[in-house]
Amino acid sequence: MGKRVSVYRKEHFNAAHRLHNPAWDDNRNSEVFGKCNLPNYHGHNYELIVKVTGETDPGTGYVMDMKVLSDVIREHVTDRFDHRNLNLDMPEFREMNPTAENIAIVIHDILRAYIDEKLDIKVILYETPRNYVEYPA
Ligand code: NI
Repeated sequence: MGKRVSVYRKEHFNAAHRLHNPAWDDNRNSEVFGKCNLPNYHGHNYELIVKVTGETDPGTGYVMDMKVLSDVIREHVTDRFDHRNLNLDMPEFREMNPTAENIAIVIHDILRAYIDEKLDIKVILYETPRNYVEYPA
């Protein structure tokens, strides 16, 4: 077995969202989600970190070519998410609250289809400089 190494690529996007559960009345939504439930949406500067772990390739010395990783993230994630209203523009969030947790899961599942299955991937998503999530945990 070769040595396993993790490589990380950092990207960024801005997006608007609103947290709301249509099964609850307005009071309960407001109690649970606070300002995040305000009807006219609000934005975040999301910082996205994608971690890829695997053995280095004996030919290149790479776990994964970072240019390829960067292109995959841009084409399939940031170009789709940047400057969008996640609730209204993205079919993934029509029926699912666009919390940082759910956004990280969606991004992971998108990227999984484009990254060699022998590599492990993890998504770290900062919604604010102090609040961030990691998937898989
Ligand atoms: Ni928010």
